[in-house]
Amino acid sequence: MDLFRLDGKVAVVTGSGKGIGKAMALGLAEAGADLVIVARTEEDIQQTVLEVEQKGRKAIGISTDVKKKEEIEKMVAKTLDTFGKIDVLVNNAGMNIRTPALDVPEEEWELIIQTNMKSVFLASQAVGKHMVEQKSGSIINISSVAGQVALRTGVAYAATKAGIIQMTKTLALEWGKHDVRVNAIAPWYFRTPLTEKLLNNEDYYNEIISRTPLRRVGDVKELVGPAVFLASEASSYVTGHTIFVDGGMSIYGF
Ligand SMILES: NC(=O)c1ccc[n+]([C@@H]2O[C@H](COP(=O)([O-])OP(=O)(O)OC[C@H]3O[C@@H](n4cnc5c(N)ncnc54)[C@H](OP(=O)(O)O)[C@@H]3O)[C@@H](O)[C@H]2O)c1
Repeated sequence: MDLFRLDGKVAVVTGSGKGIGKAMALGLAEAGADLVIVARTEEDIQQTVLEVEQKGRKAIGISTDVKKKEEIEKMVAKTLDTFGKIDVLVNNAGMNIRTPALDVPEEEWELIIQTNMKSVFLASQAVGKHMVEQKSGSIINISSVAGQVALRTGVAYAATKAGIIQMTKTLALEWGKHDVRVNAIAPWYFRTPLTEKLLNNEDYYNEIISRTPLRRVGDVKELVGPAVFLASEASSYVTGHTIFVDGGMSIYGF
């Protein structure tokens, strides 16, 4: 099972102050990686750094707004100054506002596109440059079931998550010859600060469950296995792929 170990690897996880990103960062640390914790809220960042350190790994926190190219570039430079390399990038930071399509203001469209999709390109480009030179690396982009099937999640969110799946394939094609792999994970519902309120609505929850073959929402710990797999040598011949971690939801036809 050494194939799944990440000892000596350096992983950057965006949006790792809470929710899915934090769970994946802690999982990568358990597999042996040192971590760079990226988000905007300083106390969340410091708490995740502490929890990584409690697992015996090194961690630094870098407050970064992933919408901003110059902040991403500074974050990458600081990471390289500290650790000298980046082996794994998880592009997880994201948000949503569920406005009906006819009412979406242009600023809201821009905010969601920049936070969820432009950020994935900017961070992949900045880290990809280093990985291509290094001739190794694994990038993991967090998409969503909403990027594959039509959901009532909002038009901008769906567009960004579909865009991430296609960006993943294009970057995998361009960087494969440099041994840089690019894959995605598409989750269905997981209980996090982003979804807590929705999932606490009993009618909505029951509707979700009725369309989920495994008849429950996910626990964030269930994203650790797919993340460690894609980050590690265990997936050395997998690139351009999206793993749906969705209790079977995306194959549900009726
Ligand atoms: N939860 C689900 O059921 C679900 C399902 C499918 C896909 N996803 C995707 O999974 C990812 C994580 O979702 P989650 O549920 O864990 O969300 P969450 O609980 O709201 O956490 C989001 C994290 O991203 C950070 N973030 C947001 N905007 C940022 C920005 N501009 N710059 C830097 N960091 C930023 C937040 O920290 P700050 O606010 O401090 O910056 C926070 O740490 C998202 O891409 C989401 O679309 C979630």
